Amino acid sequence: MSTIDSILTENRVFPPSDDFRRRARVSGREAYDALCAEAATDYEGFWGRQAREQLAWHKPFTQVLDESDAPFYRWFHDGELNVSHNCIDRHLPLLANKVALIFESDNGTVRRVTYAELSRLVGRFANGLKSLGVTKGDRVIVYMPMSIEAVVAMQACARLGAIHSVVFGGFSAKSLNERIIDAKARLVITANAGIRGGKVVPLKTTTDEAVAMGGCDSLERVVVYRRAEEKDAPIEWHRGRDLWWHDLVADKPDVCEPTWVGADDPLFILYTSGSTGKPKGVQHSSAGYLLGAVNSMNWVFDYKPDDIFWCTADVGWITGHSYVAYGPLAVGGTQVIFEGVPTYPDAGRFWQMIERHKVSIFYTAPTAIRSLIKLGGDLPKRHDLSSLRLLGTVGEPINPEAWMWYHEQVGGGRCPIVDTWWQTETGSHMLAPLPGAIATKPGSCTLPLPGIMADIVDETGAKVETGGGFLVITRPFPSQVRTLWGDPERFKKSYFPEEYQGRYYLAGDSAHRDDDGYFWIMGRIDDVLNVSGHRLGTMEVESALVANPLVAEAAVVGRPDPLKGEAIVAFVVLKGARPSGEEGKRIIADLREWVAKEIGAIAKPEDIRFGDNLPKTRSGKIMRRLLRAIARGETITQDVSTLENPAILQQLQESV
Ligand code: WT7
Repeated sequence: MSTIDSILTENRVFPPSDDFRRRARVSGREAYDALCAEAATDYEGFWGRQAREQLAWHKPFTQVLDESDAPFYRWFHDGELNVSHNCIDRHLPLLANKVALIFESDNGTVRRVTYAELSRLVGRFANGLKSLGVTKGDRVIVYMPMSIEAVVAMQACARLGAIHSVVFGGFSAKSLNERIIDAKARLVITANAGIRGGKVVPLKTTTDEAVAMGGCDSLERVVVYRRAEEKDAPIEWHRGRDLWWHDLVADKPDVCEPTWVGADDPLFILYTSGSTGKPKGVQHSSAGYLLGAVNSMNWVFDYKPDDIFWCTADVGWITGHSYVAYGPLAVGGTQVIFEGVPTYPDAGRFWQMIERHKVSIFYTAPTAIRSLIKLGGDLPKRHDLSSLRLLGTVGEPINPEAWMWYHEQVGGGRCPIVDTWWQTETGSHMLAPLPGAIATKPGSCTLPLPGIMADIVDETGAKVETGGGFLVITRPFPSQVRTLWGDPERFKKSYFPEEYQGRYYLAGDSAHRDDDGYFWIMGRIDDVLNVSGHRLGTMEVESALVANPLVAEAAVVGRPDPLKGEAIVAFVVLKGARPSGEEGKRIIADLREWVAKEIGAIAKPEDIRFGDNLPKTRSGKIMRRLLRAIARGETITQDVSTLENPAILQQLQESV
């Protein structure tokens, strides 16, 4: 087995300031090391202590980890609790008047909800669901815009022990149809419209289309939240099936006793599109999942009671589950929820909102950062961002240039950046700096959280000491995926392959470690390039390209090459306009030399193509399989239904 070569070197190091370190929950490297040592000496003791201290239990557990049916691990399984009780009731009456949610709509109106009000909203809606017969274990689809009601719907399901499955509001009728069928959902909760960037998103009409596609035999009712005036969002009404949210809750009491559930009873299913085939229904537990969310709020976000927290992710993604709907509430925090898009009315919207709401912890995706650099790199300067104390990123490797911009322009050079590596399947952060303990390096997600046993191995499972390999987690952890809904065999095959005797959780990413033991994610295993016998991750070549002052974004893929095995083809978005003719040729030559100089001739792209954008999924991930087809001159036969911007394919195909 060949390991993966690492060619990028990044030497900048940013230790936390003394002030940040002194105030931090985990203060200094020794404190982090002590937590890790506790987990290493007594793994179950460590996790048992965390679960007892961080969660409110109805019935205490007697066993921490049950490995008897590995890899179907169970955590705290004979304990009982309720997730919504942990997020709301346990903060009352102490935090009754503390603001839980600050909602800013697309056009800038603001609505605040305290913990006492949230308790009533969730109680009434849960009573509404109950009146429709929803009980523990039932599946409920949530197809909602970013809103207070989306969080209320999720919390209400959790309160009843019903299993929600949130479908991102940007997904099509076909995706919704598949998910209703696969989950055998009894209910869809939607809205008459979503409003994003001044445009109406017809969620209810799409729901009707999804149901009309057939096969949704399990579906009984569609609950519709009235987000927009009915004249602005005309919808059809299916008598006997459709029900207004406000009618459902009109006569319901504010108080709904939580249904106690087993620690390992499912809290939700979240579908994640695998690289091929049908989406996987990632099934998460109640207690273990929530523990991951709470610990990472405290450890990675260093959450304090007076923080204003803002995670920009939509509730349709795992990030919007762990760091919008659950984590911030479970710690009794105040958070911003935003309905709109970062570029409306202009690319300064995030900075304007940080100033307006005095956000102290801001968490977003590298793809958003890069596009805001391209659309208005100087806009942060126009706002007072002094409330910020911590910044975070998630979703893909952040290239060091974007990291530096975020650090300087947004964080004013004073805020640590937590680059958090995790996945839908891990439920919460796995690799990330504890900001008062770990010095950061641009582009590295640094070290595992306490109790997370991450490692890098080769194809046989042997530890890789230098160079890159497969990122694995060698011991089960509380917040991990429990199974794939209805498909336990696929669960085993996807995450616990036989090569590792079914013991290691295989993340599907490649990574390497530097001399300080820091992890650097190199890309997805499936995307590794093989150039003249050197195996290269996509991340490093892309970072080198983006380090060039002209470049906003880049994606590289391999194209079969008779001499080298694979030749690198780079798709590049410039900060300025897309060049053509002689200018294009000159920039291509410059960029090839630039990469050769930055990381070595081996990584020099054979071919460079310019586009106004890159093909991305709705969650902002570059779809390299489409770029591979374009690079090879193949016609695209793959499924492009999850693509955010289909028009870009033709432009890239013509850009030869
Ligand atoms: C994949 C998981 C986790 C919530 C959002 C995405 C990539 C995620 C990082 C990071 C480098 C990252 C990985 C991972 N990824 N965070 N900080 N650095 N890569 O969830 O859709 O399940 O995607 O996103 O490739 O496997 P997801």
